[in-house]
Amino acid sequence: MDLESQLQTSTATSPWVSALCCPECGGTLTESGGGLTCARDEAFFATLQGVHRLLGHERQAELAAATAFYCRVRADEGFRHSSELPRVPRGHIQARIWKQRARHFGRFLDWLSRERPRMQAIVDIGAGCCWAAQRLAERGHLVAALDINLDPMDGLTALGEERGLGLGIERIEADMEFLPLSPNCADVVLLNGALHYARCPQNVVAEARRILRATGALVILDSPIYRRSTDGEAMVKMKKKDFLSRYGYAPCRDAAAGYFTITELTRLLERSGFEVRVFGWPSRLREFGRDLIETFRHGRRTARFPMIVAQRRSA
Ligand SMILES: C[S@@+](CC[C@H](N)C(=O)[O-])C[C@H]1O[C@@H](n2cnc3c(N)ncnc32)[C@H](O)[C@@H]1O
Repeated sequence: MDLESQLQTSTATSPWVSALCCPECGGTLTESGGGLTCARDEAFFATLQGVHRLLGHERQAELAAATAFYCRVRADEGFRHSSELPRVPRGHIQARIWKQRARHFGRFLDWLSRERPRMQAIVDIGAGCCWAAQRLAERGHLVAALDINLDPMDGLTALGEERGLGLGIERIEADMEFLPLSPNCADVVLLNGALHYARCPQNVVAEARRILRATGALVILDSPIYRRSTDGEAMVKMKKKDFLSRYGYAPCRDAAAGYFTITELTRLLERSGFEVRVFGWPSRLREFGRDLIETFRHGRRTARFPMIVAQRRSA
């Protein structure tokens, strides 16, 4: 039975629960005593504040310092949950970014209603405070939101237990490189401002493909994409300098991809079994014009944020 039919026949249990699997051994999980128990090795994973804690201990320890630093930077920069995101009031500290993000998310919603008009099972990976999951659930989609960040302002718990339950969003603490979800459970996997945080994007893409149905699509939004790697490297270097001057610390370069070139990302997706379409990349002439303006303004070519739709090819 697919997730949609399960939703129609199920009573209290979320249809996503049957798709969850043990992060240690991949066994099926069943709800019991305030959490989930693995049918294979009987490991128990708590569900706290409405979030299934499915991040293995070792990976949690590996990620802890980087996540704490990330939360601090986000708080300092004024990123936190609010119920209207991506809309923010005029004068908001990040109004310019949110305006751009709203435009990109609108492009995704247009694609969704044009090409996927029926209810979709959507996994929002690196969902942060779940604003996008919220907007999608309100439109009638069946949404699971996954992140390693539990921050009460900007992470998975920001939505609040009641709110999450009311919207039917399944929230899962897990690593995007090891998705605790069974194969063929999703119609759409969304990576919204998230793929460039992956240590190994290949793993994330392979995991996305594994959980997608045969007709499914992976959508990448708001990852910085360049034509040339030299421009991406210049951005990473500048960010590192900025972190060092503000905090006296910068995360290790190997911890995340940071950016992509359009050629390498397309190639990675194609090699991983997807057919790729890019929306919102300018024509050569416009690209040249914009590059000139940006070089004049900022002394370098800046990133583009196209929407990448990767349609799963059958094996
Ligand atoms: C810039 S935020 C984007 C949040 C949200 N998708 C949005 O559009 O605002 C990147 C998110 O990726 C998450 N992230 C980073 N590394 C991750 C990993 N290995 N597994 C899962 N999530 C991760 C971060 O915790 C953060 O919430």
